[in-house]
Amino acid sequence: MEVVIAPLPELVQLAANAIEDVLRSKPDGVIGLATGSSPLAIYDELARRHREDGLSFAKARGFMLDEYVGLPKDHPERYRNVIEKEIASRVDWPESQVQGPNGLATDIKQACADYEQAIKDAGGVDLQILGIGTDGHIAFNEPGSSLTSRTRIKTLTAQTREDNARFFDDDIDQVPHHCLTQGLGTIMEARHIVLIATGKQKAEAVHQLVEGPISAMWPGTILQMHPHCTVLLDDAAASRLQLASYYRGTYNHKPDWQGI
Ligand code: GLP
Repeated sequence: MEVVIAPLPELVQLAANAIEDVLRSKPDGVIGLATGSSPLAIYDELARRHREDGLSFAKARGFMLDEYVGLPKDHPERYRNVIEKEIASRVDWPESQVQGPNGLATDIKQACADYEQAIKDAGGVDLQILGIGTDGHIAFNEPGSSLTSRTRIKTLTAQTREDNARFFDDDIDQVPHHCLTQGLGTIMEARHIVLIATGKQKAEAVHQLVEGPISAMWPGTILQMHPHCTVLLDDAAASRLQLASYYRGTYNHKPDWQGI
């Protein structure tokens, strides 16, 4: 696990460079897409690179991490619509090449199995963008999630519904109780994972993620087992890290040729 502590604009460049590297070397590369506010600045930068530098998503495939269950097809907070708005429609990404778990399926179990198969058929995820919840969830794998879980239905915690109420007119009653989410085992199969976290409210989750014992109580801790995981943090999100000065020194002395 590599920890980079830097101002947000620098973190955004690192993440965008890594995604661009995938797409330039493998135009039909598979990008794992996250919702939430954390990746938004990365999506802005990718849209800029598309506009100004010709970065193309025309052949790329995208797989979303998760989806609410039961939100109507045209609901603005349905994650498939959020991803369309925040990134896919701003670049040349054909709609049919971006998929999410089907939160409107009548056969949920089958929809989850189909989603796993679709990721497999695409050859797996080359680069997965991730955020982290204040309770340590990644995608919607809430505390207590099996560390080897696959795509399935989950019940959101009160904390997550409270955190996400800001997207639903600050009305927690509008936030669905259920979601479909890639499992921790599914996410762990991505070849490179780039997690971004900013702000003091993430400091404890980040401390556990990087330095805590691996535990289903802090689901993100499973990423400690990943061979290529980059954790991008601003000062506030890094404020509880015990080894912060070591991570800073490591990054400052990193050879120029070595990307994240
Ligand atoms: C949401 C999403 C996660 C996201 C997390 C943090 O509920 N399902 O994929 O990483 O919570 O969100 P934010 O980046 O807005 O803090």
